[in-house]
Amino acid sequence: MQHSRSYWSFFRQAKGRHGVHSPFVFQLVDTCLTTKVEKNFNILRKKWYAQLKHDREPFSVIDLGAGSKQLSQTRTKQQLLTTSSSSGIYGDVLYQLAYFFKPSHVLELGTSLGIGTVQLKMGAPKSHIITVEGCPTTLSKACQSFDYWKLDGITTINASFKEFLAQPVFVQYDLIFIDGHHNGDSTLEYLELLQQHSHEETLFIFDDIRWSDDMWEAWKTIVSDERFHVTVDLGRMGLVWRRPQQLKEQFTIRPKIWKNKLF
Ligand SMILES: C[S@@+](CC[C@H](N)C(=O)[O-])C[C@H]1O[C@@H](n2cnc3c(N)ncnc32)[C@H](O)[C@@H]1O
Repeated sequence: MQHSRSYWSFFRQAKGRHGVHSPFVFQLVDTCLTTKVEKNFNILRKKWYAQLKHDREPFSVIDLGAGSKQLSQTRTKQQLLTTSSSSGIYGDVLYQLAYFFKPSHVLELGTSLGIGTVQLKMGAPKSHIITVEGCPTTLSKACQSFDYWKLDGITTINASFKEFLAQPVFVQYDLIFIDGHHNGDSTLEYLELLQQHSHEETLFIFDDIRWSDDMWEAWKTIVSDERFHVTVDLGRMGLVWRRPQQLKEQFTIRPKIWKNKLF
């Protein structure tokens, strides 16, 4: 069960582009989050999801994170697609953000089947993506996804997030997608470690900010942190930028394009 109280406040507070005075966030809502996913990609993506939905071969996973509320240690691709992946409207959001901001260097913490990775890569085909996954079997399934899409420019790393972030910094990422280990304290710890891997315009995307009380508390801590001048609550996901040139402001946004779609 997601944090229902905060979802209720999301629906009450969420704005469209009207009422947004920051030009940066206005553009985000008016242009970025209204981008249509490329037609051919959309068709191929539907076929891919249909294939994954039929894949019920069980495999064992090692979960280094907060675990799943619904799944055991034995999972299928079908289950991962439907319970813990960036398909649906938040897959579109990843595509739109990558398409609009055209990041050169992307980091994803939490690969799973590689569904989020594929959305980011198709949005910004020239980007180089590093994606980190703690479970070797799950990562091998993601590699099958990347082969299916014939994607290059993706580096997969089998490590815990902590091990990966302890490595020397060799690049400052333009976009960082944090989508694993949904525990409030760990999320804040990763954000701290990520500061040296990022620059002032880096976009941090947090998934599942309403997954639990402690994830919601972590999101509120990030929103009130003086270092982060732009924070955008999109319901399931939260977007964060340092952008020190901008006045600190928090936005709760529900793009018009979503119409009546829920999460
Ligand atoms: C929600 S899934 C990722 C979904 C994917 N990003 C997408 O968009 O479809 C989270 C993944 O993170 C991995 N994970 C969780 N905690 C981890 C940790 N501390 N270190 C490494 N991997 C972790 C899990 O094994 C799981 O496959």
